Amino acid sequence: MKIVQQIDEVRENVFKARKRGQTIGFVPTMGFLHKGHLSLVEISKQHCDYQVMSIFVNRLQFNDKNDFESYPKDLERDCRLADGIGVDLMFIPNEDEMYKENLTHVDVTMLSENLCGASRPGHFRGVFTVVSKLFNIVLPDISVFGQKDIQQAVSIEKMVLDLNFPVRIIIAPIIREDDGLAMSSRNKHLSEVERKNALSIYRSMKMAEKLIKSGEYRCIKITDAMKGLIEMGNPKMIDYISIVNYYNLQPVEKITGKSIIAIAAYFGTTRLIDNMIIDASKRGFKCAY
Ligand code: PAJ
Repeated sequence: MKIVQQIDEVRENVFKARKRGQTIGFVPTMGFLHKGHLSLVEISKQHCDYQVMSIFVNRLQFNDKNDFESYPKDLERDCRLADGIGVDLMFIPNEDEMYKENLTHVDVTMLSENLCGASRPGHFRGVFTVVSKLFNIVLPDISVFGQKDIQQAVSIEKMVLDLNFPVRIIIAPIIREDDGLAMSSRNKHLSEVERKNALSIYRSMKMAEKLIKSGEYRCIKITDAMKGLIEMGNPKMIDYISIVNYYNLQPVEKITGKSIIAIAAYFGTTRLIDNMIIDASKRGFKCAY
């Protein structure tokens, strides 16, 4: 695996790969890699010949300076893991390389305003800006994002459509611990008790699936039942339990078509998010979480 820090070096290596006839897959990350990140590369490998990953802790998407400064880092381990899984080119730019005198920002209005956007103003603008820059630097054929951050993934699909980026977005399944907790670099902040209590999120989604499959489509009934279950896990605060339309992320009253149940809750000081995609078709309901 080649490790580079300069934009020019990325362009040069990607250009060479293209000249060899290879297609380019890209997985952007903020590092501190876990199995969830690595699964995105596995999926990229199924579609493309040459794998590019980036690690950049993007200041623009943090509302809280402390959160940014305390973001976990272990570049040596990250590079070992990425190399092991078959990443060909690792891009680790510094702040100046990405943002020197930057005045331009990208926004996907409406999709960035509710759910996590409501409690993290400016967060998504930071995400879309850095992802746009990375797409223009790497020029990949496909780019893989995790369902784990569903608002981010759906909005990037829309951004690519609206701004005509020549890249195909693939949304990859959520990778979970054996007991169901969605993998996240934030999980390490949970105490043992909080970690156990946080499983109430996964349980609430299992219950939602049961309710939906037994014919309950009224969102308020589903979210009320989920709230009751999550509260049994003693969260410090539930930020939201929302059922929204997949494409515009606006709340719906009944589950029809493609919808998302999205959850954000604090256990101790750690904010956890999780979600389930519901696909309603003539054959019934498919729930992916
Ligand atoms: P980061 O949090 O490092 O996540 C990088 C990618 O890994 C995202 O697409 C995220 O959805 C995916 N991911 C995280 N946990 C996952 C899990 N348990 N299962 C599957 N995929 C998972 O998301 C970001 O970085 C940033 O916002 C970024 C897109 C890099 C822009 O700065």
